[in-house]
Amino acid sequence: MGSKLQILLKDLKKHGIENDIPNVTEHVGQFLNMLIRIKAPKNILEIGCANGYSTIWMAESAKLIDAKIHAIDHSKPTFEDAKKNLMESGLQSYVNFYFGDAVEVINSFPSDLLFDFVFVDGEKGSYLDFWNAIKPKLSEKSVVIFDDMVLFPEKTKNFSEAIKNETGFDQLMIPDGDDGILMLIKN
Ligand SMILES: C[S@@+](CC[C@H](N)C(=O)[O-])C[C@H]1O[C@@H](n2cnc3c(N)ncnc32)[C@H](O)[C@@H]1O
Repeated sequence: MGSKLQILLKDLKKHGIENDIPNVTEHVGQFLNMLIRIKAPKNILEIGCANGYSTIWMAESAKLIDAKIHAIDHSKPTFEDAKKNLMESGLQSYVNFYFGDAVEVINSFPSDLLFDFVFVDGEKGSYLDFWNAIKPKLSEKSVVIFDDMVLFPEKTKNFSEAIKNETGFDQLMIPDGDDGILMLIKN
């Protein structure tokens, strides 16, 4: 990663901490970045891009493999910031932005748009709704990652219980400090 992008990511992380924007940890950003390089997906979906911090981490790898990120958020101010920050990163051509509720946006996608890699970081209480919307849109061997699976046990409870009974996916909880991410791979 070039030093200009490293500085932008550091600045955005600092801005997020100072302004209560719940960006992913640097650790998760780096993990997504590396996983995308390994997996080489064509279409990536992001639910909850906020101001684009996690999107930039992913877009840096998307550029290397010529993938497209489809990033959704329903908060106008952060959505506008995401577009601005992606312009600043120079990676904007690897991202399609969609403003609106994630479930509605996903349901409006053409039926032939399938995702090989999905990162979910929207409202924690809606994880089960997101999962139900994503499932029919997954390609073979797709990878899905849910952020913040430890920090909000009450909010993620219905999803956590439902996912335990889900067949057809290998699942792994990966610790991230006092939090954790859940990774699913379609088998
Ligand atoms: C934790 S923040 C995302 C942080 C971002 N992934 C990052 O690391 O920079 C959650 C974001 O999800 C968005 N969000 C929550 N529920 C949503 C929904 N149902 N549809 C679309 N966006 C949603 C919020 O507006 C917020 O910007």
